[in-house]
Amino acid sequence: MAAVLDASDVSPGAMVVDLGCGTGSVSIPLAERGARVTAVDLSPSMLELLVAKAAEAGVQGITTLAAPLEDLELPPGSVDLIVSNYALHHLRDRDKEALVASALGWLRPGGRMVIGDMMFGRGTSARDRSIIGSKAAVMLRRGPAGWWRLVKNVGRFWFRMEERPVTMETWERYFRQAGFSQVAATPVRLEAAVVAGTKPGP
Ligand SMILES: C[S@@+](CC[C@H](N)C(=O)[O-])C[C@H]1O[C@@H](n2cnc3c(N)ncnc32)[C@H](O)[C@@H]1O
Repeated sequence: MAAVLDASDVSPGAMVVDLGCGTGSVSIPLAERGARVTAVDLSPSMLELLVAKAAEAGVQGITTLAAPLEDLELPPGSVDLIVSNYALHHLRDRDKEALVASALGWLRPGGRMVIGDMMFGRGTSARDRSIIGSKAAVMLRRGPAGWWRLVKNVGRFWFRMEERPVTMETWERYFRQAGFSQVAATPVRLEAAVVAGTKPGP
């Protein structure tokens, strides 16, 4: 989350969309910096919590939208910054790719997209193997509850149900194919990485 906020570099008054916002761990700090945030999530209960958290913190400037990201439509050229933290790995790969292409259209020229998420593949690279090994070791150390979670997560990951992370390189390809420039991927820690790109233009 901190890495996404750092990479966002938002200006007061900027129009921001947070994809898969959850309870607002990215939306709220961006609104505190003066951004006007559209916080999008599938789950109305997450959005209710976000609204309550923002009210408690006295933060204004957030509009919520309950919608699946796969169906999201926004006016072309209307957004300065699109962010997402730990949400897009839930999407099917073709929906990730389509979302990045749509996002380019929603951004104004010079606007940016920044996504932070778990980013790893199925073990073809040393980084993948190290991430998968570390995650498995943590769960194994937790005893029977951890073993059960490991079995569940391996199933979800292997059959690509709910947990569908892709590598940093794949995200970079989606960004470049869509037409983003200045595409850069930064590993953050263990499984997490941030990919950012800019819509070409003034
Ligand atoms: C792990 S949470 C991350 C929340 C928040 N971005 C954060 O960093 O704390 C993932 C969020 O993505 C949302 N989500 C998952 N699939 C989605 C979809 N297809 N469309 C919209 N939101 C989705 C979930 O409801 C959940 O709130």
